[in-house]
Amino acid sequence: MNAKITRRHTLAAFALAATALSPFAAHAEDVVKVGVILPMTGPSASTGREIAAAIKLFQAQKGDKAGGKKVEVIIKDDTGVADITKRLAQELIVNDKASVIAGFGLTPLALAVAPIATQAKVPAVVMAAGTAIITEASPYIVRTSFTLPQNTMPIAQWAVKNGIKKVVTLVTDYGPGIDAEKTFVATIKENGGQVLDSLRSPLKNPEFAPFLQKAKDLKPDALFLFVPSGQGAALMKQVSERDFAKEGIKVIGTGDVTDDEQLNNMGDAVLGMITSHNYSADHDSPENKAYVAAFEKANPGLRPNFMSVGGYDGMALIYAALDKTKGDTNGTKLVEAMKGMSWTSPRGPISIDPETRDIIQNVYIRKVEKKNGQLYNVEFSTMANVKDPFKAAKAAKK
Ligand code: PHB
Repeated sequence: MNAKITRRHTLAAFALAATALSPFAAHAEDVVKVGVILPMTGPSASTGREIAAAIKLFQAQKGDKAGGKKVEVIIKDDTGVADITKRLAQELIVNDKASVIAGFGLTPLALAVAPIATQAKVPAVVMAAGTAIITEASPYIVRTSFTLPQNTMPIAQWAVKNGIKKVVTLVTDYGPGIDAEKTFVATIKENGGQVLDSLRSPLKNPEFAPFLQKAKDLKPDALFLFVPSGQGAALMKQVSERDFAKEGIKVIGTGDVTDDEQLNNMGDAVLGMITSHNYSADHDSPENKAYVAAFEKANPGLRPNFMSVGGYDGMALIYAALDKTKGDTNGTKLVEAMKGMSWTSPRGPISIDPETRDIIQNVYIRKVEKKNGQLYNVEFSTMANVKDPFKAAKAAKK
């Protein structure tokens, strides 16, 4: 026998035994890896910053154990580019052996990983993106953020109730914006209202001025707005410069526009703006008061926004699923465990629809007000347990 080979085998066997017996090395099977992919840099960096902070807070508060295992979170920056999201998802699953992937700051990024989640049978928890169709792209996708139809329907109904007849819509030209536009337009038309124009601004290098001028010239009763988190301040600066109120035009929208992370810097011109959304840092509940205080203590100068709760609740869902499977990381079992789960989030009561794997949650109508010298979205009306209306309509047709 070749002595060299024998020696190498012996060494290899020794190394293997040493690793297995070492009291210092955490056993691989005792660690569950959660691969979180977020835009930590680039135009959507605020989404990454908010979600990463919320995940850290969750683990600081609840510890790193779930289902008897150590939960290790690996955060990767996709810079908001879908090809990078895809590559990172593959690397996290194949090289790092992640049992769950999560994050996804924009719709195209969530859609890019759907085929990977399906093929690898690994749960993908969407903590941010909001186009309705996302959960239909893979049976392994579960969402803890929101959908745009869900968040838009209440403000459209509010507009109808408040005598708004003629509207113009201005949304960002991609999945969530188109969902918001469709929902708003349908509700207005169903109630005898008139849509004077539906304008769309590009996602990259957004230019609002020509659209806002056009909207103003059309003299609607209301202008409905949607832009993704991070673009609200730039949009509202241009809105304030045009004084729509003077023309008798109400400016309304989804809460993405009056995003808590940027709201306080938007200035008094946004005072009184009405929006509907799933989360406000001002939400009046003991859970939210504790959440905001802990978040702000851990991240001085940063207010938690709706993206942060998507991340916080995403972690709560992953922990609860691992507890339920007693640490079994089989992806199909984890998704089954997530279906139908319900708990109290800082945003209010939430659950995962067992049929669609999408979130069911309250949507609130809010008004921008000043409290202790700071601007907040103050909730004044609640639509309870809202299901994604697109999926509810599909289910009704079946
Ligand atoms: C999305 O890309 O789905 C998205 C991003 C930011 C939002 C809403 C939706 O505020």
